[in-house]
Amino acid sequence: MRPGPGERMPRETEATAEIRALVSDLRPDDADLLEALHRVQHRYGYISAEAMEVVGERLKLPPAHVYGAVTYYADFRVEPPAEVVVGWCSGPACRLRNGAGIRDAMLAVLGTELGEKSDDGRIAIELQQCNGSCERAPQIWIDGRVVGNLTAAEGVRIARRLQAGEEPAQIGEPGVVAPGGAVEGTSGG
Ligand code: FES
Repeated sequence: MRPGPGERMPRETEATAEIRALVSDLRPDDADLLEALHRVQHRYGYISAEAMEVVGERLKLPPAHVYGAVTYYADFRVEPPAEVVVGWCSGPACRLRNGAGIRDAMLAVLGTELGEKSDDGRIAIELQQCNGSCERAPQIWIDGRVVGNLTAAEGVRIARRLQAGEEPAQIGEPGVVAPGGAVEGTSGG
């Protein structure tokens, strides 16, 4: 159906077409809302205003309802993630072993707050829940990879290396060979 006089014609961009395809099999109902949002976030790393609009159209839900769900669940982002995302484990085993001290030391180096990007927008430390690998507490996850058995001093060292632009994949656990790197904690860096 053509829009009537004065009605807004939604602009079909490559992005909206892609999002539309991503959720095309979902039913127009609230029951599939979280599934739709997870798909979008998995694909793009965040849920843009444009994506919320497309999801709302597909599921026949008001924009405010979609926005409410996105902002209610801490897992969903409304902005593109930082280039390097460091997950900080807030679970009890990590906290008992100075997890908060490691977090604060790293944030101080980066000059940012938990959940916010560094000034250059490249790095963010984000709150995460225990993933069950508590034997390696206290730990962080660099781009999803566990780097455990840390101390605050090692946290500082890691934050500095990331800040200096070192490839995240090169940064490993103390005493463990990082993928393609040297044994951590032996170079004094
Ligand atoms: S409490 Fe941190 S991994 Fe379990």
